[in-house]
Amino acid sequence: MAESFDVIVIGGGAAGLMCALTAGQRGRSVLVVEHANRVGKKILMSGGGRCNFTNTGTGPGNFLSANPHYCKSALARYTPADFITLVEKHGIAYHEKELGQLFCDESSKQIVRMLLDECAAAGVRIETGCSVERVAGGDGGYVLDTTLGRFTASSLVIASGGLSIPSMGASGFGYQLARQFGHDVLPTQAGLVPLTLSGTHSQRLQDLSGVSFPVEASCNGQSFRNFMLITHRGVSGPSILQISSYWRPGDELLLDLLPGEDAQVWLREQRQARSAAELRTVLGDVLPKRFAQRLCEAWFASKPMRQYDERELRDIATQLQQWPLVASGTEGYRTAEVTLGGVDTRTLSSSTMESRHVRGLYFIGEVVDVTGWLGGYNFQWAWASGHAAGEVV
Ligand code: FDA
Repeated sequence: MAESFDVIVIGGGAAGLMCALTAGQRGRSVLVVEHANRVGKKILMSGGGRCNFTNTGTGPGNFLSANPHYCKSALARYTPADFITLVEKHGIAYHEKELGQLFCDESSKQIVRMLLDECAAAGVRIETGCSVERVAGGDGGYVLDTTLGRFTASSLVIASGGLSIPSMGASGFGYQLARQFGHDVLPTQAGLVPLTLSGTHSQRLQDLSGVSFPVEASCNGQSFRNFMLITHRGVSGPSILQISSYWRPGDELLLDLLPGEDAQVWLREQRQARSAAELRTVLGDVLPKRFAQRLCEAWFASKPMRQYDERELRDIATQLQQWPLVASGTEGYRTAEVTLGGVDTRTLSSSTMESRHVRGLYFIGEVVDVTGWLGGYNFQWAWASGHAAGEVV
């Protein structure tokens, strides 16, 4: 005998739990099916264990999607303020780190606890360690064969996330189901991910692993000013993670190593004020000394400032502000925070997240082709899209 529910949600992550508790609060009977041994694993590991649960400045411009308008409706109807109200209702202390990013003061476990408490109060049933073997039906009637038996529902919500961090339970399951029901899946790619270097670039920087400093990284018309970290295999840090979502192999990626400065004016001033100082010393005052030293060994010849003529200073300034970073690739899904691409939004309703092909089938969260910047935007999309579907399933 199959057990029947109004709604089955596949995936007990951020989006799935938000959808489940919203639907449960409306009196719908809801089952969440999670194949991992516990729900919300990515929430637990997020934000260095403190979960950057939203960003107060969230807007559609903080997301990548083939259809940049798609996320607007859901984001407008469930805002960061709505999620903050929920967090405060549960007495969870939080703080703003920078740029509108809100983190728990104590632990990301509090966010998972909050979602589970809300689900319990709304009568949601959650089954962990439950793998879906087959989904059949469609148009308002779904049958799921799982390792815990057969379940049926009139609404089926796919909240199974993207491909990032397979060891946390990520799978391509949502994309397979989308295709099964006639949806296109746009090509996926690791996003918010460290970049790798090879060849000369790698050799010149490898032993500086751990060195970090502010840069402005630019690629394909997008720029992010924040820290860059040199790693054993390449570069990481917030500016690189952000720009990685805009970079494709072969694309030009430029770094401004003196963001906010006019390097040529600054170099001229240094030549005037410290004419006997070598370039490496001057650069070592504004960049990490080891990196400045390496720049002058590998890229520019260092000599006393007074010996540089105008043309040389202009060339150095250009290189400092448009330093070409030749990335060989990314670290891939193993370390990526998100997956770009996914279920094509053209065949989903932007107000309800329901399929336009098949009645009662919904896609929410990261499985959809909507990907946020670093800084709490991805969870806000998970909450907003989960809430939008939860209100109608
Ligand atoms: P999510 O991946 O959270 O959940 C999907 C669930 O479905 C998982 O529990 C998975 O096990 C389950 N599942 C998959 N296949 C299944 C199947 N076949 N059957 C049953 N269940 C299945 N974002 C942010 O805004 N702030 C932050 O601080 C961070 N930090 C961060 C750190 C790290 C290390 C990572 C990897 C990611 C982040 N993110 C983030 C991104 C954020 O975690 C991500 O965008 C959301 O978790 C997406 O929520 P979803 O619910 O869509 O997927």
